[in-house]
Amino acid sequence: MAQHLSGPASLEGQVAFITGGAGGMGRAISTAFKNAGAIVISTDRAKAEDIGPGIEYMQYDVTSHEQTDSVIDAVIHQHKKIDILVLCAGTITRVPLADSTDQEWSDILNVNVMGVVNPTRKLFPLMSKNGFGKILAAGSIAAKNGGVASGPAYVAAKSAVHGMMRWIAKAGAPHGVYANTLAPGPVETAMWANVTGNAAPSAHASVPLGRWGNAEDIAQAALFLCSPASNWITGTSLDISGGMWMD
Ligand SMILES: NC(=O)c1ccc[n+]([C@@H]2O[C@H](COP(=O)([O-])OP(=O)(O)OC[C@H]3O[C@@H](n4cnc5c(N)ncnc54)[C@H](O)[C@@H]3O)[C@@H](O)[C@H]2O)c1
Repeated sequence: MAQHLSGPASLEGQVAFITGGAGGMGRAISTAFKNAGAIVISTDRAKAEDIGPGIEYMQYDVTSHEQTDSVIDAVIHQHKKIDILVLCAGTITRVPLADSTDQEWSDILNVNVMGVVNPTRKLFPLMSKNGFGKILAAGSIAAKNGGVASGPAYVAAKSAVHGMMRWIAKAGAPHGVYANTLAPGPVETAMWANVTGNAAPSAHASVPLGRWGNAEDIAQAALFLCSPASNWITGTSLDISGGMWMD
């Protein structure tokens, strides 16, 4: 069994592949990982995005099997390996159960669940063969508290992500492959603006630490969980919610 001891939070020499990289969290994570020394390949469904200096960008729709193969194969061809997979692609709906349609459920589950399954299914065997890998998925506080501003499809999808990462953590541990989940509370990105219609409730009333999260809060937690600083942590769901959820 591969043994990886904990050490400083450097990503020097590591290749990181990020989905949803054009979004608020994905951008901040890409920059933090680049600054920590990683080669960063940021991906999103949009054709072209300027993610930041020194960060590679590739168009990748996580629901596409074809793109999962072609994009990941191209990265491995160029960089020989992928050490870190961060799964940030996601969409949300706040439609209540009685009004929700099969189409909404299908769309939300497709992006938020299959969009995690597809790249993970492709990379897990490769990481296992290499004896190392760190997989980190964006879950949500919604999987724990039933949702802040989201509908049931999103809550169900994020719950599936937390469960799936635990399965991967168990299966991957003997091969040096880690899997963890972030459980953010509300973070001020396009997604939060979308669900609140730019009229968010008062953070003072909702968050013990008195503010909503920002993308940098998430990026630093992601860096911890994808770096050697956390080499005895796998299968965890890290609450990053200003104290809104305490586990
Ligand atoms: N913002 C929050 O309050 C919050 C809280 C908890 C969890 N999350 C989760 O964190 C992750 C990142 O969210 P964010 O706040 O940065 O949102 P965001 O909307 O800024 O970013 C999400 C990104 O996912 C991309 N995306 C959507 N569908 C895709 C697809 N099929 N293929 C590839 N890319 C796709 C979008 O283009 C976008 O760039 C999401 O999974 C979200 O559910 C967000």
